[in-house]
Amino acid sequence: MAWWHDAVIYQVYVRSFADSNGDGVGDLRGIIAKLPYLAQLGVDALWLNPFYPSPQKDAGYDVSDYRDVEPRFGELRDFDDLVGEAHGLGLRVIVDLVPNHTSSEHPWFRAAVAAAPNSRERARYLFRDGRGESGELPPNEWQSIFGGSAWTRVADGQWYLHLFAPEQPDLDWTDQEVVAEFDDILRFWLDRGVDGFRIDVAHGLAKDPDLVELPVDLDPDIPTWVAQPRHPFWDRDEVHEVYRRWRGILDSYPGDRVTVAEAWVYDPTRYARYVRRDELHTAFNFTFLMAPWDAAELRAAIDDTLESLRQVGAPATWVLANHDVEREVSRYGDGAIGLRRARAAGMLMLSLPGSAYIYQGEELGLEEVRDLPAELRQDPLYFRSGGADLGRDGCRVPMPWSGDAPPFGFSSNPSPWLPQPPTWAAKTVEAQERDPASTLALYRDALRIRRSRDDLRAGELRWLEADASVLAFTRGSGFACAVNTGSGAASLPAGLASAHVLLASDALERGGELPGETAVWVELPA
Ligand code: NOJ
Repeated sequence: MAWWHDAVIYQVYVRSFADSNGDGVGDLRGIIAKLPYLAQLGVDALWLNPFYPSPQKDAGYDVSDYRDVEPRFGELRDFDDLVGEAHGLGLRVIVDLVPNHTSSEHPWFRAAVAAAPNSRERARYLFRDGRGESGELPPNEWQSIFGGSAWTRVADGQWYLHLFAPEQPDLDWTDQEVVAEFDDILRFWLDRGVDGFRIDVAHGLAKDPDLVELPVDLDPDIPTWVAQPRHPFWDRDEVHEVYRRWRGILDSYPGDRVTVAEAWVYDPTRYARYVRRDELHTAFNFTFLMAPWDAAELRAAIDDTLESLRQVGAPATWVLANHDVEREVSRYGDGAIGLRRARAAGMLMLSLPGSAYIYQGEELGLEEVRDLPAELRQDPLYFRSGGADLGRDGCRVPMPWSGDAPPFGFSSNPSPWLPQPPTWAAKTVEAQERDPASTLALYRDALRIRRSRDDLRAGELRWLEADASVLAFTRGSGFACAVNTGSGAASLPAGLASAHVLLASDALERGGELPGETAVWVELPA
């Protein structure tokens, strides 16, 4: 079985992980210094958020050069060292590929703006004439995910499409030069030894050729970045041609290189299409991430995922957090209760069949930081919504490593790009390493147990009869997990009560009972 079928992958948010040069922003050398921490945590791979040259209008998801390193993060030599050192420690490295849009500072887009309408330069993007008497209205009513029209007008009167910020013009994937360029970008990083790619906005590359308006019957409760049926820019069939092509490129390289799609597609059958045998290897499972803390809802998300992926023979990929969503401690209710649930959810995730992602700080039980000063916020979502949406900066606050006061060993600079709450003194890696009941200790234990057990990695999942608030299942014949999403104690399913406890997310009180908001792993007698 290839490594990525059951790998645990740690997401490194480069600008917030570790700062080696004191400019207050994390960098590649900072990551190198912390590789032993990741090896000790027990993960198999790292996924690095974009570190390429970029004006940083969307934290690096606005790439101006796909084959280099942003100076504030380091240089190519540092990247090569990072890959070399990671591999030396047995850690693989996945990089972020941003194919839906470039930065408006990318040489291609600068040339497009300088060129005339209908030129070759403009054909790589989606330039169109406007509507109205003098073209003063955008070509259609599509809205940007960050708010406002998805179109911006240039000096000669044409408009260009940007599903995200105006500084992120969308590429036209029907243009063969665009296709060829990304083949080459993939090869550039594969040749440098990367083990895979996370594909940004994988469900968005193809647009309706007539740029038709959104269907009127879209479900308003589904977020705007999530696919729905007959959508003119999400999850269109044409995207799959791109992924078949890329699969061929990855397969032509030695070693098991992997792709993971960021495809916000809830419909399980449509989602599974991204990971058909000749397409991408894996895709983040956002149904699980978005599920509320409720046994039935979590179970439905797990079942739907496993069933749809079984049809295409792909492994599942579980994720509870990333740099775009509120941290799960806060999502699940904040404070002590949120932390208790997040710890149990972590154990649930790590005992499901497939691979799992840990977002930096998840292993420390960090919560969302909501009270960041407005003048330090950077997320375009915050600005383009006029502050109505606090945006995603609150889950991107730098890691607390050590010491009693900010910046907690993240940087020698007293003012990192975002401030950490002083209360994180109790959450630093250093503090949690001293405490066997800490969240860090829980994650280390869980990862060690996961690594040591074939059944936990490869055994089939079978549900057990349990109380309504309890999720309980076996993996293979020797392992079982039970999670109580209710607030009161519940009885453990038959056979589990007397089994040997391998790990629990919080103290177990009485035998035969599982306290509220708690997960337990047990070894079943042979
Ligand atoms: C998804 C990325 O995770 C997010 O951070 C970014 O803003 C958008 N794609 C646009 O690239």
